[in-house]
Amino acid sequence: MAAPDSQRTDDWWRDAVIYQVYPRSFADGDGDGTGDLAGVRARLPHLAELGVDAVWFTPWYVSPLVDGGYDVADYRTIDPAFGTLGEAEKLIAEARELGIRTIVDIVPNHVSDQHAWFRAALEAGPGSPERERFHFRPGRGEHGELPPNDWPSQFSGRTWTRVPDGEWYLHLFTPEQPDLNWAHPEVRREHEDVLRFWFERGVAGVRIDSAALLAKDPALADFVEGVDPHPYIDQDELHDIYRSWRRVADEFGGVFVGEVWLPDAERFARYLRPDELHTAFNFNFLSCPWQADRLRRTIDDTLAEHAPVGAPATWVLCNHDVTRTVTRYGREDTGFDFAKKAFGTPTDLALGTRRARAAALLTLALPGSVYLYQGEELGLPEADIPRERIQDPMHFRSGGVDPGRDGCRVPLPWAADAPYCGFGSETEPWLPQPEGWAAYAADRQSADPASMLSLYREALRLRRSTEGFGDGPLDWLPAPEGVLAFRRAGGTVCVVNLSAAPVDLPAHRAVLLVSGALDGSGRLPADTAVWLRA
Ligand code: NOJ
Repeated sequence: MAAPDSQRTDDWWRDAVIYQVYPRSFADGDGDGTGDLAGVRARLPHLAELGVDAVWFTPWYVSPLVDGGYDVADYRTIDPAFGTLGEAEKLIAEARELGIRTIVDIVPNHVSDQHAWFRAALEAGPGSPERERFHFRPGRGEHGELPPNDWPSQFSGRTWTRVPDGEWYLHLFTPEQPDLNWAHPEVRREHEDVLRFWFERGVAGVRIDSAALLAKDPALADFVEGVDPHPYIDQDELHDIYRSWRRVADEFGGVFVGEVWLPDAERFARYLRPDELHTAFNFNFLSCPWQADRLRRTIDDTLAEHAPVGAPATWVLCNHDVTRTVTRYGREDTGFDFAKKAFGTPTDLALGTRRARAAALLTLALPGSVYLYQGEELGLPEADIPRERIQDPMHFRSGGVDPGRDGCRVPLPWAADAPYCGFGSETEPWLPQPEGWAAYAADRQSADPASMLSLYREALRLRRSTEGFGDGPLDWLPAPEGVLAFRRAGGTVCVVNLSAAPVDLPAHRAVLLVSGALDGSGRLPADTAVWLRA
């Protein structure tokens, strides 16, 4: 397959389609029930045929997997469950030969409690230089029995844990993920070295985990609702950190994508100034309900906030932390909100799938880059994981109220008739595949022109071969209520019908692709999208 044009230029990332691989659940090469790098290498042809420009791997480093690998014990070594560094290097090179770049995931806010630095800090005791790389403090209360402050956790529960010598340490996530002290020069130096380590191994980009959380209010003062700045979100010091990261990336031509959950558009865009991060995930779009006016506003706000800093937008429908798209769009409340996750929320999967197909064409027609989470191209629904099989700490820390994120992390179905749907395991995979999973298998969908997989393949093919997609201007066209219609520079028009009734199409010369089928009178049915040549 020929490398797409965007692969040959330095600014490939401005309009790339980037596929997210969650290695544990992508494909199992050695049969032990856990996905691995051998599995990814064997499935690279799937990614090439899909036509993606890059792959982002969620963490593949040595980790006790308390938080699915976001608890890193060693940033320079691949977890033996996934493979070896040599294999990762081969994978990076083999993908590149197929025109696919690699993005790795760096987790700078915290390490695993098994990381050498944290073990040394525990051993060295209060007042030691080893503890200064973290946030250790005495407790409050008469005997230091109360945590040093009242910060709310990102994962419900406390943000402080007491160690046997009486001091407490800060962790915005689980106790097994102690937060680093980013005011410490060694912490900064170490991460810049880690960036170099991976860029030297040929990776094209780095995804930055929890990118807006690293810097903390030096006083570690209590959180006061509504008072700015927040003591640990979006502190101004972060920008200096990312400016020096940018200098490292520029040595290699590498790029960043930040995980920045910030609803404030102006604050968000500050991370994308020309000497900071190249891009950041668009979580406002991901969270937006399936409603024309809300989506239109989110798209307009996104484009308006990115324009002054010259950064391309990103379009994201799903990732390893959120509810699968077909499930979310089939619910009464089609928006995404961590706080609203609950067991047993009803969904209409046929409706959700129709909308997810339309959303795929919408997303791929917008200006900028697109992130595609593994399994979205198969239209996988969110799985109900039996309670006794749940592994996600978000579930446990919520006292069992939040179902957690395992439902979107189920091992992929590759072959309908093979054991465990061709995931590759000879033993039960680490998360159970629900009944009916075989119907989504890639081999079955590959042969079906009406499948989600065929839709994605065709959309990506057209997106690459048609002038004016990706980065560039977007012009809204007049449209009835509940309908989004816009034209891209090359003359392609995208119409998405979010109203309840079929609508007439604008004048056009050809229909390039429809997410469903036009009705007998050539009208666009509800919850359907079309690409037209005007
Ligand atoms: C965001 C990651 O996407 C999520 O999976 C993880 O639990 C947290 N950051 C903590 O690293």
